[in-house]
Amino acid sequence: MSLDVKIYGNEVLKKQATPIVDIDDEIKALVDDMFQACYDTNGVGLAAPQVGKSIRLFILSIPPEDDEELEDRDKYFEEALINPQITKKKGKMKGEEGCLSIPNVYETVERSKFVSVEYTDINGEKKQIENATGLLARAIQHENDHLDGILFVDRLSPLKQQFVKKKLNKKYNTDWK
Ligand code: CO
Repeated sequence: MSLDVKIYGNEVLKKQATPIVDIDDEIKALVDDMFQACYDTNGVGLAAPQVGKSIRLFILSIPPEDDEELEDRDKYFEEALINPQITKKKGKMKGEEGCLSIPNVYETVERSKFVSVEYTDINGEKKQIENATGLLARAIQHENDHLDGILFVDRLSPLKQQFVKKKLNKKYNTDWK
């Protein structure tokens, strides 16, 4: 089954997602489909609300740093994070972000430089990623925000936010603050 990515203006993107109680076959199938959607769009991550499921789950598909290994899927860091909790944030970094739910918009976003996250994996095991940095740290924060109904445009400076949202509201016929 191929998934339909929800775009700016869809209320599911603004909702607080609910925790997952059971990692059943439906969740496993959803995760498979989310990875496929991520490959199809060359995304580095995708959160369940983006495909219309308001549940606390996101996937990561972080490419290797070496460009020559980009074709090799085994070199990617791929993981499904269920009920994730960011346990530590430190420092600041700035970098460009985009989002499959906001096509063609790329803006500089300030994030924490180091993050740690605890989560349950697809096999039901408790895991953690400690002191993630770079693209991994950025993706964790971006995707985790989706579970709280927060989009990267909500993380821009107030002035920039006003400008970008005005354009988006016009384009998508919304009045999101
Ligand atoms: Co996104």
